[in-house]
Amino acid sequence: MSITRIKITNLLKRPEDIGIGNKVNVKGWVRTKRGNNSVAFIALNDGSIVQNIQIVVDLENFDLETMKLVTTGSCLSVTGTLVESQGQGQSVEIRADTIEVYGTANPEGYPLQKKGHSMEFLREIAHLRPRTNYFGCVLRLRHAMAFAIHTFFNDKGYFYLNTPIITGSDAEGAGAMFNVTTLDLQNVPKTPEGKVDYLQDFFGKPTNLTVSGQLEGELGALALGGIYTFGPTFRAENSNTPRHLAEFWMIEPEVAFHDNNDNMDLAEEFIKYLVQYALDNNKDDLDFLNTMIDKELIARLQFVTQNDFVRLTYTDAIDILLKSGKKFEFKVEWGVDLQSEHERYLVEEYFHKPVILVNYPKEIKAFYMKQNDDGKTVRAMDVLFPKIGEIIGGSEREADYDKLLNRVRELGIPEKDVWWYLETRQFGTAPHAGFGLGFERLMLFITGLSNIRDVIPFPRTPMNAEF
Ligand code: 4AD
Ligand code: MG
Repeated sequence: MSITRIKITNLLKRPEDIGIGNKVNVKGWVRTKRGNNSVAFIALNDGSIVQNIQIVVDLENFDLETMKLVTTGSCLSVTGTLVESQGQGQSVEIRADTIEVYGTANPEGYPLQKKGHSMEFLREIAHLRPRTNYFGCVLRLRHAMAFAIHTFFNDKGYFYLNTPIITGSDAEGAGAMFNVTTLDLQNVPKTPEGKVDYLQDFFGKPTNLTVSGQLEGELGALALGGIYTFGPTFRAENSNTPRHLAEFWMIEPEVAFHDNNDNMDLAEEFIKYLVQYALDNNKDDLDFLNTMIDKELIARLQFVTQNDFVRLTYTDAIDILLKSGKKFEFKVEWGVDLQSEHERYLVEEYFHKPVILVNYPKEIKAFYMKQNDDGKTVRAMDVLFPKIGEIIGGSEREADYDKLLNRVRELGIPEKDVWWYLETRQFGTAPHAGFGLGFERLMLFITGLSNIRDVIPFPRTPMNAEF
């Protein structure tokens, strides 16, 4: 009779479900094998939990040729008896009856022989790094956060809206877009004026990968009341920093009848919920990262859930920066876009708390933000976090048709690209607000890792799309 496989997490967390002395089957990848001529100890991991299960192999009952195939990285199915562990660190282990080798991993070639590889090296083997403890933790936490995001909004009655990945618009106006075309780049069709003849392209017009689902998200909010998007976004900005990816995931709630204060309340509640969810549900992964990566990780996560975020205006923030007496690489004056060094000064050195900045100069923000009466600022809000800088960007939206149209014209945005967006302000417009949380920026905060390439399975950055 074959014995049903059990996941190692279930075995370690609830061994009583199997019961000491009973037969059990586990399948997974060998992390280490040690021992002597009579007994071998195999640490097996199946990805369900950061811990390994120890397999004890009484060698006189096993074919030694088969046992030679059991090396670090090989994949096994092990059936045996669940016993109380003699060693430290875990309560149970398995005394093996049979071992089937599903896949060998030649020690000559397998790159994850030993522990302690650098993050840089692991990036070069992105196809295998999910098998390390670091990435196991990151990937389980990523899943948990995605799940918690859906739970949070579902509980609020907001609907998950799928916005298009291929669009004809540039929501952020930053111009850093990847074009989407089926035209033959070796032989591009031209108009009589010598321009690219997009009429011959797949969509009959220029299209690009979306930089944000917001504009379409607003259409949903103005019909369903509250929506959120959660999908990939693409930016061709050539910024090779530890906080930028060319392909990243964004969560964008958009809510009718919210003003910018409601928007900030939602953002703060949302992040606190996610952090608390990780603390409550992923203790093993966080303990591992706290020990291996950042001794202050858990304390920082707890701090965020327990303290109010500071809220202040952009103008007040500029005053604080000017009075700081600090030498910044980028000059501070009213009107400049804040750099991450400025944001981190405010959060890490001045307030020692997450900060929400509001009312930014309109020149440095997107066209859709609600204009303040001063004629200079817009009702933007950015949430700034320790070690990361901007984690959320959002705003109340301009709901007034004439003001929005004026801004579109001032900025020279082609009206033929945004006519449908403008129409929402002509038909049943409503006050509304929303924001975007960068999923990988959130993951940087949750894991304590310092490079965004290490919190997404397959990072896309300039000159890098191998895996
Ligand atoms: O501030 P951003 O550009 O805002 C928007 O896209 C709005 N449409 C959001 C909205 O109001 N619905 O981007 C939002 C967040 C940033 O705060 C940051 O966390 C993340 O997206 N982000 C990036 N993350 C990784 N790599 C990049 N290149 C990123 N650019 C932005
Ligand atoms: Mg922003």
